[in-house]
Amino acid sequence: MTKNILVTGGAGFIGSNFIRYLLSKAGDYRITNVDLLTYAGSLENLKDLPHPEKMEFIHGNVCDQPLMEQLIEDRQIDTVVHFAAESHVDRSLQGPAAFIQTNLVGTFSMLEAARKVWLQKGLIDMDKVRFHHVSTDEVFGTLAPGDPAFHEDTPYAPNSPYAASKAGSDHLVRSYAKSFGLPITISNCSNNYGPYQFPEKLIPLMILNALHEKPLPIYGDGLQIRDWLYVEDHCDAIWIILQRGEVGESYNIGGENQPSNLEIVRTICKILDEKAPRESGLPHEDLITYVADRPGHDRRYAMNITKIRNELGWEPKLQLEEGLRSTIEWYLSNEDWLQAISKEKNFQDWVQLNYEAREKTLGGAE
Ligand code: NAD
Ligand code: TYD
Repeated sequence: MTKNILVTGGAGFIGSNFIRYLLSKAGDYRITNVDLLTYAGSLENLKDLPHPEKMEFIHGNVCDQPLMEQLIEDRQIDTVVHFAAESHVDRSLQGPAAFIQTNLVGTFSMLEAARKVWLQKGLIDMDKVRFHHVSTDEVFGTLAPGDPAFHEDTPYAPNSPYAASKAGSDHLVRSYAKSFGLPITISNCSNNYGPYQFPEKLIPLMILNALHEKPLPIYGDGLQIRDWLYVEDHCDAIWIILQRGEVGESYNIGGENQPSNLEIVRTICKILDEKAPRESGLPHEDLITYVADRPGHDRRYAMNITKIRNELGWEPKLQLEEGLRSTIEWYLSNEDWLQAISKEKNFQDWVQLNYEAREKTLGGAE
């Protein structure tokens, strides 16, 4: 039987990887991909899809509730996978409004649309429907050294406007299950990396800056810890939750890789020394530059993934160094994508301004 899946934010990093993942699987799927194509989303991320005829792209805003309702009804959507969000912490510090709009109001609008079509109009068999909300480990706040990893019952304590907007959206999703019986699942995942990641996030930014002989900006002392996960492993986890996850439950997803930012950047530099040595012959590590720390910077994230491992049989497949090698190879061999994204999005201006502001703050603080 055909599954009709509405993916929101499917022109972004994880959403586009998820669509690619799904279309490469055997099975009868029709995907409706709604994306606003903000600075972070691009149709470049959806080129050369396997079975492109199975995906319909809609340029739309998740806050546009009538459109969402119409799509769910007309396409007989039985599964919503909600990725669309403003996703960059640094940008949420500079301009939180868009985060409140898309992450909170947008999630509310998606929930209302699903509630109206599925629960009030009863147009689709309720045994088949699912609303899956894609969220983050950042909702749990920060860990001190030695604290146990976040588990599903860890109290929420978000520290950035991004994290707070995602925390609020998680609560809304949960409330729609409790109050209205909407069949939901939630996943809270750690930091992703891999192909098609917008080059303002740590790993692609470091790869590209290193290749272009630019400084590699380390915020603060660089000893902050993230729990890195290769994006395909995240897609796999979401798919497994859709197949076997229990309605109403949330699942933590993580890579069980917890290096410091400095270790990550040094590993990237080492791999680039092998694969793309500098003309000068000097190590890429020499480009590392310490800049002012991010305000409210969470020190450490770590995910306890016992629940998804024991109950659903999911585990991360790729080790960090292997994943970093494959990511670096992807960026090295996808110069066309990079050129196109640079032309379309001009991300370098934002990255440069962000860098200059931090460098200046550091200078002033000393
Ligand atoms: P991204 O910024 O790369 O992509 C977000 C996509 O959403 C873009 O294509 C953008 O155009 C689209 N979008 C933004 N506002 C929209 C709106 N109002 N209507 C429709 N589309 C809109 O983000 P990502 O890294 O792919 O993250 C996807 C989801 O996964 C987010 O919900 C994020 O919170 C979550 N998440 C991300 C990570 C990570 O490490 N990147 C980790 C855990 C969870
Ligand atoms: P980022 O990729 O922005 O993801 P998040 O803030 O969601 O974890 O950042 C990952 C870590 O890397 C975070 O601790 C901030 C740090 N960082 C730097 O040190 N330098 C940079 O240029 C960037 C973008 C991030």
